[in-house]
Parts: sequence; structure tokens; C-alpha cells
Amino acid sequence: SAPLRLGIAGLGTVGTGVIRLIQTEAEMIAIRAGRAVQVVAVSARDRSKPRDVDLSGYAWEDDPVRLAQRADVDVFVELMGGDSGPAKAATEAAIAAGKDVVTANKALLAHHGQALAEAAEAAGRVIRFEAAVAGGIPVIKALTEGLAANRITRVMGVMNGTCNYILTRMESAGLPYETVFEEARALGYLEADPSLDVDGIDAGHKLSLLSAIAFGTRVFFDAVELEGIGRIDIADIRHAAELGYRIKLLGVAQMTGRGLEQRMSPCLVPVNSPLGQLQGGTNMVVIEGAAVGQIVLRGAGAGEGPTASAVMGDVIDLARGIRIPVFGQPAVSLADPVAAAVAAP
Ligand code: NAP
Ligand code: HSE
Repeated sequence: SAPLRLGIAGLGTVGTGVIRLIQTEAEMIAIRAGRAVQVVAVSARDRSKPRDVDLSGYAWEDDPVRLAQRADVDVFVELMGGDSGPAKAATEAAIAAGKDVVTANKALLAHHGQALAEAAEAAGRVIRFEAAVAGGIPVIKALTEGLAANRITRVMGVMNGTCNYILTRMESAGLPYETVFEEARALGYLEADPSLDVDGIDAGHKLSLLSAIAFGTRVFFDAVELEGIGRIDIADIRHAAELGYRIKLLGVAQMTGRGLEQRMSPCLVPVNSPLGQLQGGTNMVVIEGAAVGQIVLRGAGAGEGPTASAVMGDVIDLARGIRIPVFGQPAVSLADPVAAAVAAP
């Protein structure tokens, strides 16, 4: 059958990773997808910037909206980032032009995922975003496919690798928050706006997406109670250790008598639990389903290879003709999230 043709907007860590994966694994991907997957056009801010991949065979568009609208693009792959601006405009344009969309952009989806999913549903298109939650861990696939027969009772996890790195390093090296924060900055771990990481916002975005999928609600990021790691000092970590606990920035979403509660905050977890053993920049998602019991998924939540792996999992599904909307039917809500003020204890 005809190749699946991609337009890729964003040639940073993730975009170049996706192109590298397509170029190095073309044959295997074609076999698994049942047809070739081709990049036809790309876009980024600066055309003259050196990139570590060969772009010579691809058309260039300065404007990601034009890329999204190209007649020779079947799937628009949004890897620019940002909760509004070009990422939102180009995603909307792609849907209006009849394209499916694959994105890694949790910020965009946490704020506009509901409206975008509804627009896609109305247009008969799908938005897939495995890479937006816990990077390389296929947690959305687990929820929407393997665990689809389960009434989910709780989803929790460590979903920001940078915060886990900072907390782990504070404990192992006995260093204060400020010193480790600067180390993380020097290592390039922090988002351009570090408050997205350390204030729990990035992890809260991911939790709001997982909640919507797991509990069949609309995406409601404003209902996530957020507390970051900026006020944790080394004495807190030492006291926790003396009692057999570690401090983790933990997201918890669970159904209560009042509705769905979502919380992302520093929590004590037993040192000898899977969450307590999680070191460095790794992510972990724990899912509790009525039939299956508890599932623990662990892996790289960021980085070129893991994130490209998740993006391409979505692309390969689309090439195979698997076009299931991730949020189920957005018009049908199984439950309503409880606003943060109400959810507070
Ligand atoms: P990045 O390295 O900063 O790359 C962003 C790319 O988008 C750059 O190539 C940039 O162009 C391009 N871009 C930005 N604004 C643009 C505009 N107005 N028009 C056209 N192109 C534009 O970011 P990244 O780390 O690859 O992240 C991409 C997305 O994946 C984000 O949504 C992020 O949250 C998500 N994500 C990232 C990771 C990760 O490990 N990095 C993991 C999970 C999810 P120039 O190169 O010309 O500046
Ligand atoms: N800043 C994010 C993290 C990147 O540290 O987990 C991946 O989403």
C-alpha cells in the first residue's frame, strides 16, 4: 500500500530523534507498519541551524501551519512545544485540513486537549500523544488497550525526571536544593522555563492527561492540586530517610466519593517500595485496575531515543490503520473532575 507521509514541525531533541529513528529503522518500521513511513516535509524556526540528521530529501516550510496543510502530508507530527502559539495553530490547521496528528506536547494538550480532541472527532481525525506522558513508557497504550476492560481506581507516579533527579541527588550527595538545581541546569535537564519542572506544572500536565484517559473525564488541568519541590531542604530528606521513607514528587489521581481528585505534590514513599527505589531521571507509573490489580511501569521519561520511540509507536499505529481516539469519545464523560479548591483536604 501507499507510504504514510509525515510532516514534522520541530527539529530539536525529539524531532531529530524521530527522523533518526525513521532513517535508521526504515525497513523494520515498514514491515511492522505494513507500509513505508516517509518524511516529506519539515519545519523549524531557523533553517540555517546545523542539525545532526540528513534533511536533504525533505521539503522545508518556514511556517508550521503551511506544513500542516500540505496536500502531500497524511500525518502532522507536532514537536515544537508550547501551550499555545504555533503548536496550537498548526495542530488546529492540520485537523481542519483532514490530517491525523501525533504530538509530544503535554502543555498544549493539558490546556487545549479537550477542544482539540473534540475538533478531531468532529473531523473524523485522531490526535495521538503517547510521548506526552512519561516519555518512552507506553502508558497511554496500556490504559487504552491492554487495560481497557478495567475500571481504574487509581493512577499514580513520578512523571518528571528532572525533579526525581534533583531529589535523588540531594539525598545521595547530601547537597542542598539550590546546588543540585544549578547542576541540573548545567546538565541541560531543566525546561527552558524551569518552573515547569520544579513547581510540578509539567508533571501536573501529564497527570491531567492520564486522568482523563484512565477515568473517562474531560481534561481538567486547573483541577490538579500542585505543589513543587522548591521548599524541600536536605533536612526534610534526612528526616524522611531516618523513618524509612524517601520524598518523591508524586502524582495521584483517584476516584473518591466527591469525584476525581488529582494531586501532584512531594510525598513520602517507603524506601523499599518500587517508587522509593526509583533513582535519577527515571519515571514510574502505577495503575490500579479493578480486574487486573496493580501494574507498575518504569522507564525513561525523556530524552531523544525514548521520546522518539513513543512518537513512532503512534505513527506506526496510524500507518496500520489503528485510529482509536485516545480520550474515547470526548463527548461521553464517565465522571467529572473535582475542582482543586474542593479537592483540598
Ligand atoms: P526543543 O529541543 O526545544 O526543540 C523545539 C523545536 O521546535 C526546535 O527545532 C525549534 O526550532 C522548533 N520551533 C520552536 N518554535 C517554532 C516555531 N514557531 N516554528 C517552527 N519551529 C519552531 O524541544 P524538544 O525537547 O525536542 O521538545 C519538543 C516537544 O516534545 C515539546 O512539546 C516537549 O514538551 C515534548 N517532549 C520532550 C521530551 C524531551 O525529552 N525533550 C520528552 C517528552 C516530551 P529551532 O531548532 O530552529 O530553534
Ligand atoms: N522536563 C521533563 C522531565 C521532560 O524532566 O521529565 C520530559 O517530559
